[in-house]
Amino acid sequence: MSFKTVAASKVTITELMIPSYANFGGKIHGGILLSLMDKAAFACASKHAGSYCVTVSVDTVDFLQPIEVGELVSLHASIHYVGRSSMLVGIQVVSENVTESSVRNTNTSFFTMVSKDKHDKPKEVPGLVLESEEEVKRFIEGIERKRMKDLYKKGIKALREKVVPMENLDKLEAERCHVNLKK
Ligand SMILES: CC(C)(COP(=O)(O)OP(=O)(O)OC[C@H]1O[C@@H](n2cnc3c(N)ncnc32)[C@H](O)[C@@H]1OP(=O)(O)O)[C@@H](O)C(=O)NCCC(=O)NCCS
Repeated sequence: MSFKTVAASKVTITELMIPSYANFGGKIHGGILLSLMDKAAFACASKHAGSYCVTVSVDTVDFLQPIEVGELVSLHASIHYVGRSSMLVGIQVVSENVTESSVRNTNTSFFTMVSKDKHDKPKEVPGLVLESEEEVKRFIEGIERKRMKDLYKKGIKALREKVVPMENLDKLEAERCHVNLKK
């Protein structure tokens, strides 16, 4: 089995936020950032895998602060964890206002990418050489993230099977809704 360092596949994409990226409120459209994050995740994962990769899952993208037109956005991508064919890529988004010399961390998200062979089947990726305590920490967190995600998926499936709407109307009492079923 081959191994590669985390450093070997680190990628940074920097892009100027131009007016055509703005939404009706004048801030940068969330979809633009998602697209850039996906590009950074793809570049990083395919560098590590040495093959074509696809996005399988995105774990929590929280847009906590708006990004303005004119800011320089950098997306730093690195591999945190590898399974057999999957890679967990951490994307840190940093926005810089060059005229004010201010830099903000806007969000961090995790993309799961899977390497594919020429028959479109999941393909084994190289293992990771962990060269710092931080990289060891991230890898262990990756194992835990995967475990928690599996539990969450099972929980959501069970929830969908369990909830019988008309037997649970009491749960709506303190909520901001009004049940008015159409006959
Ligand atoms: C995801 C996909 C690769 C799974 O293929 P599969 O033949 O079912 O293969 P597996 O079940 O062996 O899964 C392959 C890997 O993906 C991981 N995986 C599958 N679904 C996942 C999910 N929802 N979240 C995280 N990882 C997932 C598996 O854990 C496995 O990882 P491992 O090899 O490191 O153990 C396949 O469904 C696919 O190609 N989906 C479309 C992806 C795509 O086109 N993305 C672009 C968005 S339009």
